[in-house]
Amino acid sequence: EKGNHRHYMQKEIFEQPIVVAQTLQSYVRPFEGRVALPDIDFDLGSVNRVTIVACGTSFYAGMVAKYWFEQFARVPVDIDVASEFRYREPVLEKGGLALFISQSGETADTLAALRHAREQGQTIAVVVNVPTSSMAREADLLLPTHAGPEIGVASTKAFTCQLAVLAALAANLARAKGRLSEEQEREIVAHLQEAPEAMSQALGHDEDIAAMAHLIAPARDVLYLGRGPEYPMALEGALKLKEISYIHAEGYAAGEMKHGPIALIDDLVPVIVLAPSGPLFEKTVSNMQEVRARGGKIVLISDAKGLADAGEGCMATIEMPEVHPLIAPLVYAVPVQLLAYHVAVAKGTDVDQPRNLAKSVTVE
Ligand code: M6R
Repeated sequence: EKGNHRHYMQKEIFEQPIVVAQTLQSYVRPFEGRVALPDIDFDLGSVNRVTIVACGTSFYAGMVAKYWFEQFARVPVDIDVASEFRYREPVLEKGGLALFISQSGETADTLAALRHAREQGQTIAVVVNVPTSSMAREADLLLPTHAGPEIGVASTKAFTCQLAVLAALAANLARAKGRLSEEQEREIVAHLQEAPEAMSQALGHDEDIAAMAHLIAPARDVLYLGRGPEYPMALEGALKLKEISYIHAEGYAAGEMKHGPIALIDDLVPVIVLAPSGPLFEKTVSNMQEVRARGGKIVLISDAKGLADAGEGCMATIEMPEVHPLIAPLVYAVPVQLLAYHVAVAKGTDVDQPRNLAKSVTVE
């Protein structure tokens, strides 16, 4: 039931602090400062390569996870969209972990990729929201998200729960590889535990975001920029906007703008910049200034510190709480979801059942 909410998507966006906390309960032991996985009967420490395969929003969760696995566990990661995976004849060596991410657990491309990886002798890990799904049944290592049923075609809460599981998996892998001190593990757990509250604070900006929807709704094209783990979040922001508002949107790595896409910029193209303060902030902002110098209308999403440094001259700003870089993708998911939602509402589209789309894509 939608309760007080106008759409399932809105309800699901607002459920995120609760379902992310619920999901984390299965993957962290906060009092001990340890991450944990469901019982597994193989040695994560023997994993020498991770191959991530997924579609759509689940693929973007995988892109964020690649940063974490490589940064924390120093394990090389390959990532493909499922519809390309088999056809490029990937080299899958012994000792590889193939990781499939799916809300439904039924996406045909992802399921076919899973079976291909099994034939190639990979250990199969699955992050899935539907515990009775085909992918869940075929997994060696089943990592459920506890988002509850997701009705809106645009994935929201399943995505942030995927991120929570993937962050915990990265830490487990790092520990198994001997790359994580107890102190570092305790810190990761503490940061993960901060995510639900930070997401609630982000949701507190719902009305501000609704009030700026009219700035985006008339646009024909919208660009999203981010760096590091916020690059996949830019892709996700663009996908959400495309799906439900039917506005053409693209996400780019902020530093890639000058290699072509900046030619698109004029004062009719809103550019949404995801830039939490931290190690990547300055570079992202200098890319943002290049856009502004060409007349681009900027919406800067950052924390108080980032907005104080770079907010001036933007068409609009959205303030996020200041968070550790590990949980920034979970927190920055909220404003991009809300922005897409409110723009779609302003345009009067069918938010929960956008045209041409199905909740579960069971054809290849
Ligand atoms: O059920 P899955 O996570 O495997 O679905 C993958 C994509 O079809 C899905 O994420 C799609 O991109 C959503 N509509 C995004 O909002």
